[in-house]
Amino acid sequence: MRVICTNNYEAMSRAAAAVMAAQIIAKPDSVLGLATGSSPIGLYQDLIAGCKAGDLDFSRITTVNLDEYAGLPGTHDQSYRYFMDHNLFDHVNIDIARTNVPSGVAPDPQAECERYEALLRKLGPADIQLLGMGRNGHIGFNEPDDHFTAPTHVVELTASTIEANARFFASADQVPKKALTMGVGAIMRAKRVLVVVSGPDKAQAVRDAFAGPITPQVPASILQLHPDVVLAGDKAALEGLIEAGVSVCG
Ligand code: F6R
Repeated sequence: MRVICTNNYEAMSRAAAAVMAAQIIAKPDSVLGLATGSSPIGLYQDLIAGCKAGDLDFSRITTVNLDEYAGLPGTHDQSYRYFMDHNLFDHVNIDIARTNVPSGVAPDPQAECERYEALLRKLGPADIQLLGMGRNGHIGFNEPDDHFTAPTHVVELTASTIEANARFFASADQVPKKALTMGVGAIMRAKRVLVVVSGPDKAQAVRDAFAGPITPQVPASILQLHPDVVLAGDKAALEGLIEAGVSVCG
């Protein structure tokens, strides 16, 4: 694992965006695995700036998102499809038909998971998979559990995730209780994984994931077995790792 330690969110976003930009430049028809949430917003803004400056061309890029809330249509302002359109896709020269997010309103969520998994298999491993991390160590919506789940699946969100995400809704009651998520299988098949973390709220999860045992109780800990992980974080998020003696640069 390579750890890029920066002073703050903006510097973390810039460093992580550089990794993503390098991938797009090196392979203009890359498959990018994408994430939503607060952590990657700055990175997406940097990619948008790169595209507007003429440095980045998204015209042959394909994207696969990690997850979607069950029950929210793509027009709902808290759906992950809406997030991606507004925070990235609407501002770059991507072919929207090549952007993929699981549907939150498919009549049969299980069948939608199977469709999405078949799509992931057809597209092949993501060239790079971007991940944020939950405070409980979740990646995508792979929540702490007594086993790892490999394929795309329907999950019940934990109380801690509902509480963390309530900030985006009028109240915690309005946060959907279920989601569809890529499993750890497709995440681990990605050729490279780029994890972005910021702020003291993430410090314990980062330490548990990368300096603790590999356990489904900390889903991100499976990344210790991935051969090419880049972890980009600010000092506040990486503090626990630094204390645990993991070598960091930047
Ligand atoms: C988002 C996702 C989640 C988030 C995680 C961190 O698509 O899959 O795992 O990455 O909840 O969220 P933020 O970045 O908002 O702290």
